[in-house]
Amino acid sequence: MAATATEERVGTAPARMEVEDGVAVIRLNQPGKPVNVINAELLQALDGILARLEKGEGGARAVVIVSEKKGTWIAGADIEQFKDFRTPADGEAASRAGHALLGRLERLPIPVVAAIDGVALGGGLEVALACGYRVASDSPKTKLGLPEVQLGILPGAGGTQRLPRLIGVRGALDLMLTGKQLDGRRARAAGIVDEVVPAPVLLPIAKRIALEIADGTRAPRTASKTGSPENVERLPGMLSVIFRKAREGVLAKTHGLYPAPLRILQVVHDGLGKPLDEALKIEAKAFGELAVTPEARSLLHLFFVTTAAKNDAALPEGTKPRKVEEVAVVGAGFMGAGIAAVSAEAGIEVRLKDVKLEAAAKGLKTARDTLVKRARRKKARRFEVTALIDRVQATTEYAGFRQADVVVEAVFEDVKVKHAVIKEIEAAIGPDTVLGSNTSTIPIATLAEAAARPENVIGLHFFSPVDKMPLLEIIVHDRTASWVTATSHAYGKQIGKTPIVVNDSPGFYANRILSPYMAEAALLLEEGARMDEIDRAMTDWGYPVGPITLYDEVGLDVAQKAGKIMAAAFADRMKPSTVVDRLVADGRSGRKNGKGFYAYDAEGKRTGPDESVYALIGSPPARAHDRAEIQDRLGLMMVNEAVRTLEEGVLRSARDGDVGAVLGIGFPPFRGGPFWYVDQVGAQNVLNRLRALEARFGARFAPAKLLEEKARTGGKFSDDAA
Ligand code: CAA
Repeated sequence: MAATATEERVGTAPARMEVEDGVAVIRLNQPGKPVNVINAELLQALDGILARLEKGEGGARAVVIVSEKKGTWIAGADIEQFKDFRTPADGEAASRAGHALLGRLERLPIPVVAAIDGVALGGGLEVALACGYRVASDSPKTKLGLPEVQLGILPGAGGTQRLPRLIGVRGALDLMLTGKQLDGRRARAAGIVDEVVPAPVLLPIAKRIALEIADGTRAPRTASKTGSPENVERLPGMLSVIFRKAREGVLAKTHGLYPAPLRILQVVHDGLGKPLDEALKIEAKAFGELAVTPEARSLLHLFFVTTAAKNDAALPEGTKPRKVEEVAVVGAGFMGAGIAAVSAEAGIEVRLKDVKLEAAAKGLKTARDTLVKRARRKKARRFEVTALIDRVQATTEYAGFRQADVVVEAVFEDVKVKHAVIKEIEAAIGPDTVLGSNTSTIPIATLAEAAARPENVIGLHFFSPVDKMPLLEIIVHDRTASWVTATSHAYGKQIGKTPIVVNDSPGFYANRILSPYMAEAALLLEEGARMDEIDRAMTDWGYPVGPITLYDEVGLDVAQKAGKIMAAAFADRMKPSTVVDRLVADGRSGRKNGKGFYAYDAEGKRTGPDESVYALIGSPPARAHDRAEIQDRLGLMMVNEAVRTLEEGVLRSARDGDVGAVLGIGFPPFRGGPFWYVDQVGAQNVLNRLRALEARFGARFAPAKLLEEKARTGGKFSDDAA
């Protein structure tokens, strides 16, 4: 049923319309929702509004669609509803319903202008594409994009067809295959948006433009009816080159493991040149089919668990975070500089301290370079870049630390050094400052032993490179105060990270599950497996890089150190092999010194596996290992360890375990995280495979008790697992 006039009057309708000065203004504001989403209620409300416009109500000469929800225009289709799709026909029908409504919008005899302030994502942008003109605000909150590929689906409300017809195939594929989001200015450069104006004048300008289009003094900008509007794309053979290159790019990036990007390519290709309605049928069918794939289900699960982790730190009711406006970072190395940069980018004033001026200056330069690079990518103006880099100050003193809301120590990974630094920091700060340690393995309780106020001490484990890695692992020890956890969680969100809160234990969560996986890879080498064979098996399973490459990237010296700490804590199953020791003894640190498992040329470019490593470790390649065996040994080692961390209470929830593994260490997103993986393939299945490995290779593969329990009871780890 359409929203009634009463609903519109009392403001409970998700959309309402008033005719003002000849312009019908449609105001979107879904009651009780943090963002506007396209769901049954909104569709019904728009259906009613369109019927009124089709009848010419109020003599409106033009239409403007605007949002009253701060920060959002429309955040796309309601992702919750995808959970209810059981068959491809369900998704196809939903897509067709969207097509029908947007078709009516597009066919209105009067011009429609989208006035976008805030996010216009997925179905949101697709509504805008069906309009005759798009005006966006210059607010940093305004973001336009088609992120469906990240959910394992494709734009199902006309995006695959209208966007290539509006901006050309190449530009459209770039947006759809990456899911990237553009602010108003970049969206205008890409041809999606026609005008960018300051937010306070968005509505009056959009109304004026709408009337100009109605009067014929300004031309509308709609999608081309005959295919790509780009002349160059009309040249013979050009489109096949574009599609071939895009397909090659997708396969190189995804190893063919993700069906959505390949399907996007196919749908854009097949729809081009066809009448729009026919092309939209192709889109709807593909949307329905993709929506029920296991990959889409896993990626959807990830969306929900990531959002939940961001919004819920599982703290006692009423715990309030403190405002974070100033941050100090001690240790201006690569990590410290990264933490400084992401904090400054979030508008926080930063002091970056090191013992020596040269080190502090070097860190400052690294932080500034990162900021400039990122700002340029966003096409920031010069004065904006200057303001940004001015937020980071380098120092060798603790002066000014008292104002800091959070101090992060990122000094050398050594208990003695960290204890000394914690004492120094404490002397310079007050009782209201969070004292975070960016340690990757040392228990936080051990670090807090040096503190006079251990309740202020918390682990803030960032991942490298800090500006790119989306996870912040927050580690609480027995005495961490809840306001400290709440403030750390809020700080994590403020700097754009997804925080998970875990309990103290060696290696915490991320490194705890990575450690036996890496150790097993080294054992495989000892057995005579080839380096590239191991790496390829794991990238084929969906990891971004294999474990041997990861050793080189992390640094063999760093891996050796972490391996020893983990081995001391979990000797039964994380005994490090001698392989890493031998490489380190041979002066190999990995990529950073151009010598590791792999060989590097003078420019630092990797040239291939270094064959001399086999002699060094005394294990020439002996037998060809079965790919599935490598994948099971490594993959299940990590999954089983993840279950142990939940069993022991290191993890507070399976949810955080999935988020941490995917965002922190690259567990394949389309598998949804280790817990989701078990739920999908079945705990009994994983148990059987682990028992088979235990029989062949020993007790390190003994299944976790909680896994046995799940297999026995048929219980699932995830609430949303079918
Ligand atoms: N559907 C349902 N709920 C959504 C949603 C959506 N499209 N977008 C956001 N939400 C919800 C979140 O789940 C969260 O809910 P809770 O507060 O209950 O946990 C709330 O809105 C706020 O979201 P965030 O915490 O993520 O807030 P944020 O300010 O950090 O980010 C956002 C806001 C940029 C909109 C972000 O939520 C986001 O990226 N959303 C997803 C956008 C998206 O992928 N859209 C495409 C949908 S698929 C589609 O549209 C298919 C099609 O072709 C028709």
